[in-house]
Amino acid sequence: MKFFIDTANIEEIKEANSWGILSGVTTNPTLIAKENKEFHPTIKEICGIVKGPVSAEVISMELDGMIEEARTLASLAENVVVKIPMTIEGLKAVSKLSQEGIKTNVTLIFSVNQALLAARAGAAYVSPFVGRLDDVGGYGIELVGDIAEIFYNYGIETEIIAASIRHPMHVVEAAKAGADIATVPYNVLEKMTKHPMTDLGIMRFLADWEKVTEKS
Ligand code: E4P
Repeated sequence: MKFFIDTANIEEIKEANSWGILSGVTTNPTLIAKENKEFHPTIKEICGIVKGPVSAEVISMELDGMIEEARTLASLAENVVVKIPMTIEGLKAVSKLSQEGIKTNVTLIFSVNQALLAARAGAAYVSPFVGRLDDVGGYGIELVGDIAEIFYNYGIETEIIAASIRHPMHVVEAAKAGADIATVPYNVLEKMTKHPMTDLGIMRFLADWEKVTEKS
């Protein structure tokens, strides 16, 4: 499973990228708004930092508006992926954009049928929202597993991005369920690096090293 970072914060992206673990970035209107910066220049800057796919979302809800926004976003950099909401207009947009060679990530996926339709329309990625489904009493990871099983059954190449990840166990469960990618907020990536036994082990090694008399 690959890791994307789910943020529009440049410092977080640079830091996670320096760890050598990042394969891409996802943003959404909420994450962009948090940064209080201009949308297009921010996406362009992110695309310059991370070589993999960078998802940027359209705001229009009608086909023509989505297509226009998508073309503008795709012109910003080669690695832009256009995020399209899972609606009927969205499916039409995904179909048209895939014919134009513009990659799409269908977002706000909460059911297997939505994922199947998005894939058949030509989406490069589908994003089931794990945490938000859990919030309303669903089981987000089960959805990821069901999509993975069905895509496998039919040889569907659309990649599954486990999104709305809230904690490290979501990441583990997404990997077990067969997600191709987990898009993870910076604070969760950081938590994934930690284990108390690692800290204790380092402390012990350093303390013992102090006892070594000949260090060179
Ligand atoms: C995915 O691409 C979305 O940006 C994101 O994962 C949404 O997560 P949230 O439910 O924490 O807002």
